[in-house]
Amino acid sequence: MADIADFIAGLPKAELHLHLEGSLEPELMFALAKRNGVAIPFASVEEVRAAYSFSRLQDFLDIYYQGAQVLLHEQDFFDLTWAYLTRVAADGARHVEVFFDPQTHTDRGVPFATVADGMLAALARAEAELGVTSKLIMCFLRHLDEEAAFATLKDAESYLDRIAAVGLDSSELGHPPAKFARVYKAARERGLLLVAHAGEEGPAPYVWEALDVLGVDRIDHGNRALDDDALVARLAAEQMTLTVCPLSNLKLCVVHDMKDHPLKRMLDLGLRATVNSDDPAYFGGYLNANYLAAAQALSLSRADLSTLAKNSFAGSFLDADAKARHMAAVDAYVVAHAA
Ligand code: ADE
Ligand code: ZN
Repeated sequence: MADIADFIAGLPKAELHLHLEGSLEPELMFALAKRNGVAIPFASVEEVRAAYSFSRLQDFLDIYYQGAQVLLHEQDFFDLTWAYLTRVAADGARHVEVFFDPQTHTDRGVPFATVADGMLAALARAEAELGVTSKLIMCFLRHLDEEAAFATLKDAESYLDRIAAVGLDSSELGHPPAKFARVYKAARERGLLLVAHAGEEGPAPYVWEALDVLGVDRIDHGNRALDDDALVARLAAEQMTLTVCPLSNLKLCVVHDMKDHPLKRMLDLGLRATVNSDDPAYFGGYLNANYLAAAQALSLSRADLSTLAKNSFAGSFLDADAKARHMAAVDAYVVAHAA
C-alpha cells in the first residue's frame, strides 16, 4: 500500500469541503485559550482528543462550537487559517474552497470583519507563498432561523466581492433546506454561488430540496441520495458535484465501517464525487488521509483516484481555464506515475 500512499501524496487535488473552525487542532486551541485568557473545560491536549468520540453529528457540533470560543482576534483567525493552509499544501492541494460559520463568532460579540479579515489575509498569503488558490464560503447555521441568516448576509455586505458562495451547515435533521429558501434567493441575487450540506444525516428529500428549492450549485455530503434511484439519475445527469467526507462519515457514524462507505458506488454510478476532510482536527485526518482511508477500504484503483482528483477541480468554482489546467496536471501526473 505504500505505493498507493505515495501516489495519493503527489496527486494534484482540490479540497471543496473544509470548515476552518473544524481545523482547530487541540494544540492551537490550548495556545489560543492561554493567549486570550479563555477558560476551556480540558486539562490537556490528550483530554481534548479523548473527548472526540461521537455517535452522531450533534455530539460533534456541541464540542466544535465550544472549541471555537477561543477564537477572538483577527490574529487568531489568521493563525487558524494559515495552519490549515500549510497542512493541506503539504498534501498536494493546489486549490481550496473553505467554509466559515460567521454566526458562531458574531453571536459571541466578535465582529464579522475580525473573522473575515483574519481568514482572507491567510488565504492571500497562501496564494502568494504556497501557490494554493482559494474561495471563501460563508455558511448559515441551520439550527438558527432564517432571520438570523439574513442578518449574516447583511453583515457580509462589504465583503461580498471576496466571498464566493453561501453554504448551510450545523444540525441537519429537523432543519430542511426549504427553511432558508428566501435567504438563498437573496444570496443568488447578490451574485453568490450556492452550496448546502444535505443528505449527511438527513434523508434524500433534503437533497431534492437543496436542488429544487435552494437551487444549489453543489451538494455537501449527499450520502443519503443513494437511497433514491431517481435522485441518483438526476445527480448523474446534471453532473452535480458531491463533496464527500470519508473520515467524517466514519467518526459521525454516517457509515459504521469504511468498507461500507458509498464513495466507490458513487463513482460507479457516474456521480461526480470528490474527497474532502470536513473537520480534520476532529475526525482524525487531513485530505490525503481521507483519500488513503477510502482507497484502502474500498480498493480504489489509480484510475479511481485520478477521477476523484479531477472531479475536485471540475466541481470547483474556478473558471474554465483554471479547471482545464489543473485537470491536465492530474493527467500528466498519472502518465508520469504509471504503475
Ligand atoms: N459543521 C461542521 N462540520 C459539519 C458537518 N459535517 N455537518 C454539518 N455541520 C457541520
Ligand atoms: Zn461539513
